[in-house]
Amino acid sequence: MDLPRHHVIREGDLRILNPYDPGKLATLGQAIRLRPGDTLLDLGSGKGELLCTWARDHGIAGTGVDVSTAFTAAARDRAAELGVADRVRFVHGDAAAFVPEGPVDVAACLGATWIGGGVPGTLGILARALRPGGMVLVGEPYWRLDPPDEETVRACHASAREDFHDLAGLVTLFGDLGWDLVEMVLADQDSWDRYAAAHWLNLRRWLDANPGDELAGELRRELTGEPLRHVRRREYLGWGVFALIPR
Ligand SMILES: C[S@@+](CC[C@H](N)C(=O)[O-])C[C@H]1O[C@@H](n2cnc3c(N)ncnc32)[C@H](O)[C@@H]1O
Repeated sequence: MDLPRHHVIREGDLRILNPYDPGKLATLGQAIRLRPGDTLLDLGSGKGELLCTWARDHGIAGTGVDVSTAFTAAARDRAAELGVADRVRFVHGDAAAFVPEGPVDVAACLGATWIGGGVPGTLGILARALRPGGMVLVGEPYWRLDPPDEETVRACHASAREDFHDLAGLVTLFGDLGWDLVEMVLADQDSWDRYAAAHWLNLRRWLDANPGDELAGELRRELTGEPLRHVRRREYLGWGVFALIPR
């Protein structure tokens, strides 16, 4: 089981695989008032930047689970680089099937809610890992503005506008599912650019170095089309991380 190679190529040397920049990740860690010794579980942990930097900055300990062998290896390297390898571990596997050793203080899934078939199912998976009164972090897209046409909807990788809520709809959903929203840190257009636009240079450098690769045609088409899709979507698609505690 592994993530297709094109994801690894596109992400290149990015450390945060979401429309967050390092400042927003740090703001989130401060906002939720982590305490030294808190335990975290991060499902779809990518290259482990959340756990590694929060272990360094807040003294937390935790486990990340990711289906990508390349990202899991990068996360372990990052933990060693930041001197936190004794406090964070990274497991390669399916996050939906992962059984933690014990209940955690914070259970997170940033940008991978398909592991539970959407927000309600993913909150169910995260809730199972949580100690009583613990906190969930969920990272999810939403409509900043109503998309004006189908082209914009498709540019957002949605099949229909119903694929995403607007922000009020998402907040209503959290409440309907029995959760208090207790904090949130939203991406903005600049932090989206740091994620989306970084892919273009990653792709271009890879294409220059690998013209004969079997993925070259597909990734050439992606680089040709993706900048226009991004500028079509950047005013419309938002993304944020929402901190929730069960009522
Ligand atoms: C958008 S990235 C977010 C990564 C990380 N949370 C971050 O913010 O940098 C989604 C991640 O989910 C992982 N993923 C996708 N499906 C998964 C699954 N079933 N189990 C574990 N990880 C999964 C991918 O490998 C990828 O690292």
